[in-house]
Formats: sequence, structure tokens, C-alpha cells
Amino acid sequence: MEKINIFAFAGSLRKDSYNKALLRAAAELLPENTELEIFDLEGIPLFNQDNESQPLAKVKEFKAKIKAADAILIATPEYNYSIPGVLKNAIDCASRPYGDNSFDDKPLAIMGASIGNIATSRAQYHLRQSCVFLNMHPLNIPEVMVGAIQEKIDNNSRLKDEKTREFIKSMLVNLVVMTKQLKK
Ligand code: FNR
Repeated sequence: MEKINIFAFAGSLRKDSYNKALLRAAAELLPENTELEIFDLEGIPLFNQDNESQPLAKVKEFKAKIKAADAILIATPEYNYSIPGVLKNAIDCASRPYGDNSFDDKPLAIMGASIGNIATSRAQYHLRQSCVFLNMHPLNIPEVMVGAIQEKIDNNSRLKDEKTREFIKSMLVNLVVMTKQLKK
């Protein structure tokens, strides 16, 4: 059976990012015949349309990995009720120039962690709105919105909360099922 390859990134540059911890948990919880690469957005420059036809090496690499992936996984923090600028900027970079949108037709799973109780829901719905113009296929359920994340992480920044781990696991299963359906 063909391996499904998932390309994942978090909308945070923070070393001890909770959202990066969610991605590491996802890497531990993969369905069979699936692999996941975690990419760090550090080094993606601020998007400037004047330069979009000559992207820096880091953007070229980011775009190539998105295009080569069967599915995308994004873990997003919520900043001021929306997605962080770091994430929006990276998405903008990879979606350009016009006619070369790396995300075109890609299945996507979204998750997010916050210390607050609303648990990145507002950010995730903003991200879903961008998926329309990006022509992505965001997975609907389960919605992985992890509140009070500081209580669900151990001293080694590992996600220890079993319920959240189960959620992530079922999201990955559903992502792989949808990815295979879309490939048919
Ligand atoms: C936040 N935080 C936050 N949390 C939330 O639930 N809703 C929000 O609107 C915001 N707004 C916000 C703005 C800015 C500029 C910062 C720096 C933070 C708190 C946020 O959830 C927390 O810092 C997380 O730890 C960020 O995710 P990472 O970096 O741990 O992945």
C-alpha cells in the first residue's frame, strides 16, 4: 500500500511552543503506513510581492515540501482572536506567485493549543476561511482545540493528556481516510 506523507508546521516560532508539542505528539500517533515531517517556519521572510518570483531558499524548500506532500497538518496558536502573523505570512509566501499556489487541492488537518478556554477556535475558523481561496480540503471532524494546554504537558514538553492524544489520533486517521478518498 502506498505510504501517505503528511507535512506539518506550527504557527509559532517559540522554542517551547505548545503547538509544536502537539505536532510532536502527532508524530507519535500516526496511523500505519503514514509518515510525518515537521517543518520550522523560522527563516521564512516577510512576504513582499516585489520578490515573489525570486523566493529565498527557505521559501523554495517550504513550497517544494508542501507540493510533495499528500496532506498538510497545521498546529496554530491563537493571537488576538486570529492566526499569528507568522503563520499567515508563511501561508501567503507559499501561495504565490499567482498560479503557483503550493496548497492547491491539498487535504488539511488543523489543530491548536492555547492556555485559554476557547482553545484556538477563533483562530482555526479564520484559517478555515483562508482554505477557501487556497483551494484546500480542510478536515471537518474531529476539531482538535486544546484549552488549558499548560496542564496537559509534562516537564519535557510532551503532551501527556490521554484524551487529547486520542483526539489527535482520530484526527490523523480521518485525515488519512480523506486523503485516500481524494486521491481516487
Ligand atoms: C496570545 N494568546 C492568546 N490565547 C488565546 O487563547 N487567544 C488569544 O487571542 C490570544 N492572543 C495572544 C496574542 C499574542 C500576541 C500572544 C503572544 C499570545 C496566548 C497564547 O495562546 C499562548 O501564548 C500560547 O502559548 C501560544 O502558542 P505557542 O507559542 O505556545 O504554540
